Amino acid sequence: MRCIADSAPGPALVPSDLPDPGVSLRGFRATDVPFVAAIVADALHEHYDPSLYHSLSAEWPDGFLVAVDPRDIPLAFLLGVCQVPREARILMFAVDRPWRTRGIGHRLMSTFLQRCRDRGYRRVTLEVRVSNATAIRFYTRFEYSVVDLLRGYYSDGENGYQMARPLP
Ligand SMILES: CC(C)(COP(=O)(O)OP(=O)(O)OC[C@H]1O[C@@H](n2cnc3c(N)ncnc32)[C@H](O)[C@@H]1OP(=O)(O)O)[C@@H](O)C(=O)NCCC(=O)NCCS
Repeated sequence: MRCIADSAPGPALVPSDLPDPGVSLRGFRATDVPFVAAIVADALHEHYDPSLYHSLSAEWPDGFLVAVDPRDIPLAFLLGVCQVPREARILMFAVDRPWRTRGIGHRLMSTFLQRCRDRGYRRVTLEVRVSNATAIRFYTRFEYSVVDLLRGYYSDGENGYQMARPLP
């Protein structure tokens, strides 16, 4: 499972912690699959069997966060797993294009990190394409740092970075 991301240049950045009105966070539901799969296809260029979302959600329901609009339509999500004791790994994280740079990614990441702390996790890891400057900048703001270069990690041959942050 790779955390794949596009490498499109990001927009001009204006830091903002203001929550987007009408957008709320909740847990993953079976009816979210078509929406999540569409975000994954567009943002991460991947196509997974729907059963994957169900099985990963069942392993750690609180690690699968979905942001929804006022009609309860998913517009972003963060899917984390626990494969190493006391350590979380972010497998997928994406915000649908029209909803980016509104602080929704910030809300998802902040909430996810708090859930990791609540479970006593000590570290969070993730993988990102070396070309994905937008995501790398985002993660760096969240105190992730590069811990490894993953040569040829992605199916098209691109290198990845493994990034990690401790959880105090
Ligand atoms: C990476 C990603 C998840 C970030 O989500 P997002 O919702 O855009 O994130 P935020 O809005 O919280 O923050 C993004 C930037 O916009 C800025 N921003 C926040 N609110 C803003 C606003 N109202 N106006 C302008 N900029 C704003 C933030 O300061 C932040 O800057 P930073 O990256 O330098 O910290 C999103 O770009 C994405 O889905 N990318 C494609 C998929 C991807 O790369 N996933 C990661 C795979 S490893």
